[in-house]
Amino acid sequence: MCNCRVCGNSLEKFLDLGKMPLANGFLYEKDFSNEYFYNLAVGFCNDCSLVQLIEQPEPEKMFNENYPFFTSSSKFMVEHFRNMALDVISVYGSDPRIVVEIGSNDGSMLKVFKERGCEEIGIEPSKSAYTKALSNGIFTLNEFFNKETARVLWQEVGSADIIVSANVICHIADINSVFEGVSELLDEDGIFVFEEPYIGSILNKVSYDQIYDEHVFYFSATSVKKIAEKFGMSLFMVRKQNVHGGSLRYYICKDSRPTDFSLVSEKDFGINKFFEFADLVEKSKYTFKSLLEYLKDKGNSIVGYAATSKSTTILNYCGIDNSYIDCIYDTTKEKWNKFTPGTHIPVISYDRFKNDSPEYSVLFAWNHRNEILNKEKDYKGKFILPHPTARIL
Ligand code: TMP
Ligand code: ZN
Repeated sequence: MCNCRVCGNSLEKFLDLGKMPLANGFLYEKDFSNEYFYNLAVGFCNDCSLVQLIEQPEPEKMFNENYPFFTSSSKFMVEHFRNMALDVISVYGSDPRIVVEIGSNDGSMLKVFKERGCEEIGIEPSKSAYTKALSNGIFTLNEFFNKETARVLWQEVGSADIIVSANVICHIADINSVFEGVSELLDEDGIFVFEEPYIGSILNKVSYDQIYDEHVFYFSATSVKKIAEKFGMSLFMVRKQNVHGGSLRYYICKDSRPTDFSLVSEKDFGINKFFEFADLVEKSKYTFKSLLEYLKDKGNSIVGYAATSKSTTILNYCGIDNSYIDCIYDTTKEKWNKFTPGTHIPVISYDRFKNDSPEYSVLFAWNHRNEILNKEKDYKGKFILPHPTARIL
């Protein structure tokens, strides 16, 4: 049981999703008996308002050599990060000299800064992503970002005009060290911009499947404002982003800048709102399970579309195994011929989807809904959305 990772206050638990395996722990049958489980629950800090995991598996169990993810594998995300880089430069207001990215992956975003004449520095702990970034000609250090790395960087190159990060900060449990590092490394006129899946979108969509071991924090403007202030900085603007089911981009500075929070309202984001959310999550489970039971009783075939990390939360929380879902089709070959964590549903190659043409497919990659519906225009079966209340599209 953990206290708030920002302020040490005790956390108020509002949702317990039960015994859970690692979201990306896809495994072979021979490993079923050694599978690792922990308790997935989230709490709220009444001091800083930050929603966070109550218990987290050791990072070595999650981010190891079996974790291959490259930004450049999604054209849509590469375009999104190009736009993010241009947005950050425009908000900064002049040509930045030094840009640092925390968790720079294969260098997809830094490349844009480099093209604009900035000196780029990537910080990337994953060896495979780091190697890929180097081969793309992006200057990168194979390190974790924390206050120590920040100090060394500051001594060697001076302060950074821009520090950026995307979908990384929510993974780092020692968030105080990250913010302390940023406040030391950032130039007095500099800006720190990062974006993460937004707790407001999770609440709205009842997308509780965004909650899994790799995401320690579920940020809001209210909580980020308090963390920034704790380290002598201020949050001056937020902007919604249409990625990962709804993200928020946070803009932080050291000096004062005109503020703009017009697009978000978090007045009711207190503990009661989170207890209401927990009730809706339970209802969602009930509707999802009932729908699958109904379809199965009628003799339909049901499969999953995309073996996402999110699907691990849904399947384990709802207790859905092979008796409901025959298999999950996925494009990542590292997952083929393995089974889903905890629920042991076979994962097979997406190449077979068209031929098999199953009657119902649960859209576990619901955050790519439009792209997928467009790609599967000829599919004769129907897609099922697992939440807010399960329904057939
Ligand atoms: P993630 O949400 O944990 O990053 O996992 C995404 C998984 O979904 C990845 O294994 C690829 C798979 N996927 C498909 O199989 N088809 C698709 O159309 C999309 C968008 C993802
Ligand atoms: Zn706190």
